[in-house]
Amino acid sequence: MSKIIIAIDGFSSTGKSTVAKQLAKKLNYIYVDTGAMYRAVAYFALENEYIGEGFFKEEALIGSLEQINITFKFNETLGFAEVYLNGKNIESDIRTLKVSKYVSPVATLSEVRSKLVEQQQIMGKDKGIVMDGRDIGTVVFPEAELKIFMTASAETRATRRYKELLERGHDLSYEDVLENVTTRDHIDSTREDSPLVKAEDAIEIDNSYLTIEEQLASISEMANQLILK
Ligand code: DC
Repeated sequence: MSKIIIAIDGFSSTGKSTVAKQLAKKLNYIYVDTGAMYRAVAYFALENEYIGEGFFKEEALIGSLEQINITFKFNETLGFAEVYLNGKNIESDIRTLKVSKYVSPVATLSEVRSKLVEQQQIMGKDKGIVMDGRDIGTVVFPEAELKIFMTASAETRATRRYKELLERGHDLSYEDVLENVTTRDHIDSTREDSPLVKAEDAIEIDNSYLTIEEQLASISEMANQLILK
């Protein structure tokens, strides 16, 4: 049996991580949520006041990138790896609407991207990995054996995200979430460096009307065919 790299890209809140996480578990593969890494940098930028309402001190952030150390540590209880910034668990701090608001501008910076891409490529060097993000099949692992591109309508995605945030106790409106989803789509797909695009050889899955089980079944089937080759 050979180990493969599975790249799962797509717009925000398409449920990529839910499927990627379960797929990795099923295959006994490592799962890496690259969005969490960009969120960690955005969180660092907010904490240090390099970014905020109406300002973005890009050079200051770029100059501080060496101080950022992002790691993942598997949490047995939760069943997935949580993200740490300089040794501090920031898994729940990075899931706020505030971080979601500032992460896309931070992710446009080439210096941020090259630092994170380098780390991602090291994590996948032995294969046996499921990685989700925006540029995994195009930039991080253009040679990945299996590439999936997930889509769903903006309203479907905003509804899912809204419910998820409400369940976590956040106080916000559906309109705020929809606005964040569409703004992020726009920034992510129009930025100069590594915009969100479907890789030519990626398989597109519109999951607006698919359950997680259905998505998992079809992606596992594709992966198993490649693994058993
Ligand atoms: O997957 P997510 O919504 O947690 O990602 C947060 C942001 O990070 C997303 O709006 C764009 C950026 N991102 C990126 O530019 N490249 C990736 N590989 C993953 C995320």
